[in-house]
Amino acid sequence: MKLVVCKSYEEMSEKAAAIVAEIVKAKPDCVLGLATGSTPVGTYSKLAEMCDAGELDFSRVKSVNLDEYYPISPDNDQSYRYFMNEKLFDKINIDKANTYVPDGSAADPDKACADYEKIVDSMGQVDIQILGIGQNGHIGFNEPADKLYPLTHVTGLTESTINANARFFNSIDEVPTKALTMGIGTILRAKKIIILANGAAKRDAVRKMLDGMLDCSCPASMLNLHSDVVVICDEAAYN
Ligand code: GLP
Repeated sequence: MKLVVCKSYEEMSEKAAAIVAEIVKAKPDCVLGLATGSTPVGTYSKLAEMCDAGELDFSRVKSVNLDEYYPISPDNDQSYRYFMNEKLFDKINIDKANTYVPDGSAADPDKACADYEKIVDSMGQVDIQILGIGQNGHIGFNEPADKLYPLTHVTGLTESTINANARFFNSIDEVPTKALTMGIGTILRAKKIIILANGAAKRDAVRKMLDGMLDCSCPASMLNLHSDVVVICDEAAYN
């Protein structure tokens, strides 16, 4: 894993956006793997600024998102589909028909997961996967567990994640307790991965990931199996 420690959230976002921008410029029909959460918001703002300034063209870019709550409607302002539209897709010239998020409103969630895995496969390799990290070391919604899933699947959310995400909802009771998420294997098939972390709450998870061992209690540690991962974090998340 390559480690880049930044002085601030701003610098972390700039570095991440620069890496993504290089890929979009070099391959205008690239596939982006995208994440939600507060961490990549700054990166998405920078990318939108570059698009606005005419430096980046997303018209041929496709995207696949990591995960979605279940059950949730795409119109719900807490859904990850809504988040992506608001934070990125509505601000750049991407064709929304080419943006994919697992279907949190599907009647059959297992089928939705199998279908999503096929969609990801049909796009060829994801050129760059952006990841955040949960306080408990989760990536996507692959929570710490005895065994980790390789492919897109339905999962229950841990208490730690429900508590961490409650800040976005009116009350903790409104936080969905399930989600659809790419599996560890789905994520690892990307050509390149960047994982972002800021703030002291991520310090333990970052430390476990950087330890270099594979530990199911820190799903992000599975990224040690990949040959091109860049960890971009601020000083608070690293020290
Ligand atoms: C969420 C998402 C993850 C995200 C993580 C951290 O639950 N499923 O993809 O990386 O938690 O979120 P934040 O960036 O808000 O700390």
